Amino acid sequence: MTDTTIEQATAAASGAAATEQFRTKQRTATADVDTKRVDTLVSELLAAAHDIIRRHKVTYAEYDVLKSWLIQVGADGEWPLFLDVWLEHVVEEVANENREGSKGTIEGPYYVPGAPRTPTEATLPMRENEGGIPLLFQGQVRSVDGTPLAGAMVEIWHADDDGLYSQFAPGLPEWNLRGTVVGDEQGNFRIHTVQPAPYQIPTDGSCGRLISAAGWHAWRPAHLHLKVSAPGHHLITTQLYFKGGEHVTDDIASAVKPELILDPAPVAGGSGREVTYDFVLDKA
Ligand code: DHB
Ligand code: FE
Repeated sequence: MTDTTIEQATAAASGAAATEQFRTKQRTATADVDTKRVDTLVSELLAAAHDIIRRHKVTYAEYDVLKSWLIQVGADGEWPLFLDVWLEHVVEEVANENREGSKGTIEGPYYVPGAPRTPTEATLPMRENEGGIPLLFQGQVRSVDGTPLAGAMVEIWHADDDGLYSQFAPGLPEWNLRGTVVGDEQGNFRIHTVQPAPYQIPTDGSCGRLISAAGWHAWRPAHLHLKVSAPGHHLITTQLYFKGGEHVTDDIASAVKPELILDPAPVAGGSGREVTYDFVLDKA
């Protein structure tokens, strides 16, 4: 554990930062607002809710609990967390169902574009005494036909040994454990980092209240987040997990896939662990 974090990470602080980050992204995105599509999707969503109310004879007391909870999710800025934990995995499933290359999974709320660029062999920005087992993560980016991809980029971001993300928890250097690694002419990359800890959904906010009210747990397994791209190919957004790690089999965000589990080995004659994982990208 790193003991330099004095200020506590709170749901409201990480929620507000995640909301602001999403708004920044949305300003440059084009939204699909086709009237027919909105009509169909919202009507079916409401019909499903009506059906649940009838079948379970939902009371006014329960309706009011829901109403005040929904208001509070917004006040806490926790909509990005809620949506990315409980809905995004199905959006990702549908978006990538025809991909032949590497599996993707959810992006989550904590991606920040523009992390510092580093060469092919790089150590991610980290504190002098960054906690966690050193991890060498290396591999190659190839096309579906096996061609090594020059110009590949591996964006990587992950939590620290306390399960906290830079820019979303107080006291961490701006780009801690975030980087944009440029592959060599064969698409190879070698990234030195530390193994992240499992991530806990903030327990002091609305998502935390829902989790305890429903008797669920609040954990995601330890994971690396990645966006891998190359010229002429579709970018893949994914995550990688660690074999045998806590909550690999019961991720609250339902984002683990068997193809995404790493099994790092001890570094021969060195310290820490190392693992090789190659990415295969679909042609654009
Ligand atoms: C959430 C956090 C994550 O780190 C992640 O990968 C996915 C979801 C969340 O709190 O919503
Ligand atoms: Fe995450």
